[in-house]
Amino acid sequence: MENSFVKGGEKNNNHQPPLSDAQSLSSSHSHEHQASIKYLNKYQNSIENKEAFWQEQASQLQWSKPFTQVSDVSFDKNDLHIRWFADGELNVCVNCVDRHLAERADQPAIVWEGDNPDHSISLTYKQLHEEICKLANALESLGVTAGDRVILYMPMVPEAAFAMLACARIGAIHSAVFGGFSSAALADRINNCEAKLIITADLGLRGTKSIPLKASVDEALTLAEGHSVDKVLVVKQPHGSGTPAWNDKVDLWYHDCVDNQSTEHTPPTFDAEHPLFILYTSGSTGKPKGLQHSSGGYLCYAQTTFKEVFDYRDGEVFWCTADIGWITGHTYLIYGPLAAGATTIMYEGVPNFPTLARFGEVIDKHNVNIFYTAPTTIRMLMADANTALSGSQRTSLRILGTVGEPISPDVWQWYYDDFGLQQAQVVDTWWQTETGGHLIVPIPDSGPVKPGAAQRPFYGIEPQLVDSNGDILEGETSGHLVILDSWPGQARTIWGDHQRFIDTYFSTYEGMYFSGDGARRDEDGDYWITGRVDDVLNVSGHRLGTAEIESAALTYSDIAEAAVVGYPHDVKGQGIYIFVVAKTGVESAETLTDSVRSKIRQALGPIATPDHIQWSPDLPKTRSGKIMRRILRKIASNDFAELGDTSTLADPSVVDKLISGRKDLN
Ligand code: WT7
Repeated sequence: MENSFVKGGEKNNNHQPPLSDAQSLSSSHSHEHQASIKYLNKYQNSIENKEAFWQEQASQLQWSKPFTQVSDVSFDKNDLHIRWFADGELNVCVNCVDRHLAERADQPAIVWEGDNPDHSISLTYKQLHEEICKLANALESLGVTAGDRVILYMPMVPEAAFAMLACARIGAIHSAVFGGFSSAALADRINNCEAKLIITADLGLRGTKSIPLKASVDEALTLAEGHSVDKVLVVKQPHGSGTPAWNDKVDLWYHDCVDNQSTEHTPPTFDAEHPLFILYTSGSTGKPKGLQHSSGGYLCYAQTTFKEVFDYRDGEVFWCTADIGWITGHTYLIYGPLAAGATTIMYEGVPNFPTLARFGEVIDKHNVNIFYTAPTTIRMLMADANTALSGSQRTSLRILGTVGEPISPDVWQWYYDDFGLQQAQVVDTWWQTETGGHLIVPIPDSGPVKPGAAQRPFYGIEPQLVDSNGDILEGETSGHLVILDSWPGQARTIWGDHQRFIDTYFSTYEGMYFSGDGARRDEDGDYWITGRVDDVLNVSGHRLGTAEIESAALTYSDIAEAAVVGYPHDVKGQGIYIFVVAKTGVESAETLTDSVRSKIRQALGPIATPDHIQWSPDLPKTRSGKIMRRILRKIASNDFAELGDTSTLADPSVVDKLISGRKDLN
């Protein structure tokens, strides 16, 4: 690693690291489990000299106007503010593309691999620059200006990357909405961020499935009454439908707007705190929240974590399989790799098309050195390992990343032994939409790795575990995972609802960022993430609020009450289980199961489709009317022993009814 702080850290070699218990070197443990001295010193230095550490990282970006103040932060809920490099100015797109042109004009920036194995396109930094400039010019000619919101509802095609970077270039704030979300979910987001423009495609392709994105946009615009969208830019796909339904006042073909534009564009500069994008994610209550990320701090964090965590070496090929609709697709498909001048692979399709051997084939075809995916995908490959491992050597792999949910030790081991041939280090990266980039991760060279543990804080990050009073717990323990101090990549607010931002993340435990996750810290000070402690599900690495699914179910007129819980699922990690109570007078409710399922699908999208729907005469409630989800989770998991204290239920007999209903479903 080329970072000068390695040197700084080495100077401190004789220093006994005065770290919290979490990291302290306990003499009772064998050295084989301890983090390396090199990591500990560098980590310690990054905490003790935090401003200097981040100043050094940020100086690896190109600033049009240098910053004079590194951070200006308060986690106090009465005065919450998070600002990094605030008086500096830069252009994010210039940092990801233009500044590399001198040395990397002909190096592939994005290698696009189509759904169809015969389709791939390699775009050099020079070509990427031209495409972005054309689109930036087109957007400006359509009246899009800095601060306007642009929704991207796109398949995984190069134009999606052009769109993100062209928005960044002109200071428009992009908000990518995953193509698997329904038109109703899209409508909510259009209204919430008051989008001016939407960029989409006539169709998306995933495996053999066509996804009618443009038609969903049409529906969304009908649903989003009084919306502010002026234009919809439509990318024509080679496999497209010909002519989708068209509204001449609104719809424009992307190629008609872009093809004749100049390949040059003079980039303006923006304040470091200028919003770069908004990305919606689910919370435990109510509607999805639009996390707002910054320009300078976010890009600094994306670049630093990309280089350090993946130990990126010049000339290597990096492949992150995430969709650009998620934060992983922002930070580690686009912004981190391109800021670092890397070659990043963008894959249009799914892991099992034409067969489950595809990922290995793509790795060989493009000589991928660093591969980053989710445990749910690894489990899918593992389930038919013979096919998944056939037809590829995968000898180019050096680093294997994982993200999105806890990875169990057996899945970790298969990834390392079989997929990576014991030649590639596995890095289990814990982070969130809110954090912008990795927070807990065993970076290469930081010491021995433990299958299933995210392990160690990234430089500058101060995790702790707290009890329900917010008291910090010491040593080997379990608790709620909090972060004590800011880092440049953290979200700045929730779009249009700063109070919700404060309430959600900074009010549960005073003066700390609350992640919503639980974790265990072991005898060596290593962290093991145990999962959400709030009402958020993690289904195939996708975050879903139980409340969102419940309110979708309640729009069904025959349903009186609904409660959603997660249960362990072999491939998805968590499955969606919904208990529904029919309104009085509704006969043979069971026959409605399929239509309830499609109603939820319609409201939220296919990823929210319940795996099980159980009708029940009632839900287990306390006398004050609170649903005891703990009991529902046990029942959904087919775990009827030790339901805990049920005596506080208003009607304890409901438990037996739920159990027998569960048995009927099995
Ligand atoms: C939630 C955040 C960060 C990009 C993908 C998901 C879970 C994430 C891990 C991991 C255990 C993990 C947490 C977190 N999670 N990574 N390595 N080990 N759990 O982003 O949709 O914002 O979800 O995903 O529960 O809170 P997200």
